[in-house]
Amino acid sequence: MNPTTAAPSPAPGARRSARYDAFHAARARTDAVARLYAAAMGDDYPHEIAASSSCDWPLLGLLTARLRMRPGRLLVDAGCGTGGIGLWLARALAVRLEGFDLSPVAVTQATGRRAHFLDGDIGRAAFRVAELEDTGLPDSSAHGIVCVDALGRATDRDAAVRELGRVLAPGARLVMTRSLRRGAQGAWDAQARAAGLTVEHVDERPTEPTMWDRLYRLWIAHADDLRQELGEVRTQDMLREAHRVLPTLPGRRAVLLTLRRPNTPDTADAAGRMPGPGRRPGDELPGERTLQ
Ligand SMILES: C[S@@+](CC[C@H](N)C(=O)[O-])C[C@H]1O[C@@H](n2cnc3c(N)ncnc32)[C@H](O)[C@@H]1O
Repeated sequence: MNPTTAAPSPAPGARRSARYDAFHAARARTDAVARLYAAAMGDDYPHEIAASSSCDWPLLGLLTARLRMRPGRLLVDAGCGTGGIGLWLARALAVRLEGFDLSPVAVTQATGRRAHFLDGDIGRAAFRVAELEDTGLPDSSAHGIVCVDALGRATDRDAAVRELGRVLAPGARLVMTRSLRRGAQGAWDAQARAAGLTVEHVDERPTEPTMWDRLYRLWIAHADDLRQELGEVRTQDMLREAHRVLPTLPGRRAVLLTLRRPNTPDTADAAGRMPGPGRRPGDELPGERTLQ
């Protein structure tokens, strides 16, 4: 091939996002994947959210309780996918929302879901393309961060935790799902220390591996339906994941981890001053300067 006419190869970030873009685009064309998640989770499946993750009703309850956010404050949904989790939390907790994801397709879909969740008050939430390791968000700007089934996909998890820690306001919490081999030492103590955070809670999610087991077996059993509705390439991706992860599930441990930035009384509350979605500079809410 003539090197002067060859198309430049895409940057690694663009190559990675292309895979997620294709998945989110295929998923939007059919409810086949959502139906299988619903079958695997049963009554625990939150239909409105339609997450591509382990997000079930018990997880939503835990996220709500661990974030401990006040109305009007800023929540960040890191690796938000199509935005259902952040938007559900923004509505439930009456907070503002910034979501970001590597995939432009997911971000477009999330943006289109704001009116449904926020009763038309779309200015309260914004979504954009960014990476866990480089969010582009200001220091100390978030009063809470959720990260559901996304950290494991970061190229550099230590850098991603440091970056999310940088964005967290004093006293605020980063709540994220993590999965590891049973009996292994979680990397989170060292990651938290390096990010200047403390480990506040480690909530076990003992039924999560069995949910994945049911889901992967459903993918395999319904492979022909998936091929018809999602196409061969996406279905092959899903089947590869199912066959790779299934044997590891009996030895997996799933947790919800809450890391907190220590509250320093003399630290200025940068988050209270940040003009986020639905806020203008100087638009402070009463009591906003007191950290939770
Ligand atoms: C399993 S999905 C979870 C999405 C969402 N949190 C949920 O629970 O529905 C993982 C998401 O992480 C995103 N992602 C993967 N690597 C990322 C990175 N380095 N930075 C930001 N997002 C990333 C993918 O595009 C995908 O939307």
